[in-house]
Amino acid sequence: MKQAGLIIILPLLAFPLLGSGLCAQDAVTEDYFQRKTAKKAQQDWTLNCQGCHKADGMGRPDKGLPTLTGEVSKFLQVEGGREYLSRVPGVTNASISDSDLTDLLNWLLRRFDPDNIPQNHMPYSVDEVAQWRKQPLAIDAALYRKNLLAKLAAKNSKN
Ligand code: HEC
Repeated sequence: MKQAGLIIILPLLAFPLLGSGLCAQDAVTEDYFQRKTAKKAQQDWTLNCQGCHKADGMGRPDKGLPTLTGEVSKFLQVEGGREYLSRVPGVTNASISDSDLTDLLNWLLRRFDPDNIPQNHMPYSVDEVAQWRKQPLAIDAALYRKNLLAKLAAKNSKN
């Protein structure tokens, strides 16, 4: 009898999810941006980053301020890129805690470039961000960036 009950109940539980018109990924993403950490990250972005990168992440490439939208997660696809995003001066110099900075980095990848996040990507951890923060890139950031972009271009031309 118990089993028969489950057979009836399971499809009923699944129905609202299927019927809502959202696929599971949309539901998860939607939920993430409603969380307190995501809202705090957005606030930190407004106060610390958007002056250069603009609210929509488009930056001003003509002024050397890179576009993050549709671009930033590509760095995760090459070796050294994960580290780079956590060591650029704009990130390391933000006057927010290691924990808030970690949330901000994880937020910006999902906010500005979800499609290029590699499948096997693990969100940044606080320990990791705290470590990289102690080794900030300075004037060498531009060169580091150029090398990563060259690696990325080489990788994509092979595919
Ligand atoms: C004063 C302007 C400025 C501010 C403020 C700033 N950035 Fe940047 N950001 C840059 C520049 C310029 C680069 C390119 C690397 C370099 O030369 O430093 C960059 C690169 C980046 C990158 C790597 C992407 C790429 O294309 O190189 C990320 C991620 C990033 N910034 C995030 C942030 C975050 C998050 C904040 C706020 C906490 C922030 N930035 C604040 C100017 C800024």
